[in-house]
Amino acid sequence: MKNLVVIGSGVMGRGIAYVSAVGGFKTTLVDISQEQLANAEKDINSIFEKGLARNKITFTEMEESKSRLQYSISLAQNVKEADLVIEAVPEIMDIKKNIFEVIDQHAPEDCCFATNTSTMSPTEIGSYTKRPEKVIAMHFFNPVHKMPLVEIIRGLETSDETAAVIKRAAEQMGKETVVINEFPGFVTSRISALVGNEAFYMLQEGVGTPEEIDKAIKLGLNYPMGPFELGDLVGLDTRLNNLKYLHSKLGEKYRPAPLLEQYVKAGRLGRKSGRGVYDYSAKEEVIQ
Ligand SMILES: NC(=O)c1ccc[n+]([C@@H]2O[C@H](COP(=O)([O-])OP(=O)(O)OC[C@H]3O[C@@H](n4cnc5c(N)ncnc54)[C@H](O)[C@@H]3O)[C@@H](O)[C@H]2O)c1
Repeated sequence: MKNLVVIGSGVMGRGIAYVSAVGGFKTTLVDISQEQLANAEKDINSIFEKGLARNKITFTEMEESKSRLQYSISLAQNVKEADLVIEAVPEIMDIKKNIFEVIDQHAPEDCCFATNTSTMSPTEIGSYTKRPEKVIAMHFFNPVHKMPLVEIIRGLETSDETAAVIKRAAEQMGKETVVINEFPGFVTSRISALVGNEAFYMLQEGVGTPEEIDKAIKLGLNYPMGPFELGDLVGLDTRLNNLKYLHSKLGEKYRPAPLLEQYVKAGRLGRKSGRGVYDYSAKEEVIQ
């Protein structure tokens, strides 16, 4: 496998493109927004520079990896020679459906398709293509270049061969893997959404300040990040979309906290918008 296309150059897509290029894949990052692509390139270059400064990557590795990376707004054209396409567009089924229908038309027959969805069904996404046996979920974590796991989720029709190909690709990107069967929210999103939502209910109830709740969870339960710090990193809109989906599939315990809905309505989306639960406007934030 050589050619990889990542669709969506947001929080996740840019990280996936980085680990893919460093892992030796010729990688094209595709978005509909030229501005997002320019931001993605800036962020990716900043990850390279920091990696170099911290001796995580040599100068030659950096230059070679950069030469394997391209940025484009043309989807159909770029998937024509792809061996693997990884989709990382917003967690909205209609957008994903449209993309999988397009790539199914233009990618080679033996090309595998992965979705970076946090919650949605790879079986359903596979059903929008004529190759459901080649469709799987490849769930990366944020920030992608630092988090060691890729959670691989098989849909009903996913073949053993596809699962093996994806596991190898993730390992080539330097990741550990777990391969699980589909159920809404998988393992990680189901737990993470529940904890993050409960923290918002606590904030709404006046149990404590965000700082106090985050500190209690970090130091008392040994979590590396507090639920609000993590929510701001993930994006509160992304978190809300996940919760809405899980609420529709798994019931009442996933009902989004009204305060979370209000934050999203106010445009407080987290680090990416400069303000979420916490305020980031004072310093320029890039992926560390
Ligand atoms: N944010 C996280 O921490 C996180 C973690 C794991 C998985 N995910 C999942 O990854 C996916 C992407 O999330 P994100 O946080 O990176 O979103 P994001 O909003 O940061 O980025 C999405 C990108 O997709 C682009 N896009 C929208 N429609 C497109 C189209 N038709 N073609 C090409 N590009 C298009 C947007 O311009 C944007 O750049 C979601 O499914 C999300 O659930 C997110």
